[in-house]
Amino acid sequence: MFRKFNLILCFTFGLFCISCTTESIDICDYKNDPISYDCIQGIFDMNCVECHNISGAQKPYLDAGISYQNIVDKDVEWNEYKYIYPEYPYLSHIFLAISNSNLDENWFMPKNRPKLSQDKIDYMEAWINAGAPLN
Ligand code: HEC
Repeated sequence: MFRKFNLILCFTFGLFCISCTTESIDICDYKNDPISYDCIQGIFDMNCVECHNISGAQKPYLDAGISYQNIVDKDVEWNEYKYIYPEYPYLSHIFLAISNSNLDENWFMPKNRPKLSQDKIDYMEAWINAGAPLN
């Protein structure tokens, strides 16, 4: 009886630990994984959504499930770029913002945070070059 209880305790505690650690760990290996929008969403989830969410009202809204339709082939209101211009990373405002120097405060994203890893920036560029597919 106690043995069983111990097992359950171990198991739940183990699950608890796993769920704690995965929260801050990337869902993708940005150096090696094939292109997928899930991995792009993973970048947004970890680095952008806390500010760019539909209730926070800072565009573009990058929440899972609605981000794609808000950014791909969508014009930025105040400049000549699109958020994501399929096949043209250097005409894509999101790509320019994350690959910018963080010294250029007006453009750089994530705002007030360290620059994303080069692997993530390269991954985003490869995804746009591939036509910004949803899958
Ligand atoms: C700490 C909050 C915060 C985080 C994190 C953040 N942003 Fe922003 N973002 C803002 C704010 C605020 C603005 C409005 C312009 C400004 O104040 O610089 C903005 C503006 C933008 C714009 C221009 C939007 C427009 O229509 O003018 C883009 C694109 C953008 N962010 C993308 C991103 C991406 C991609 C990430 C994640 C890699 C990110 N941001 C992370 C706060 C944030």
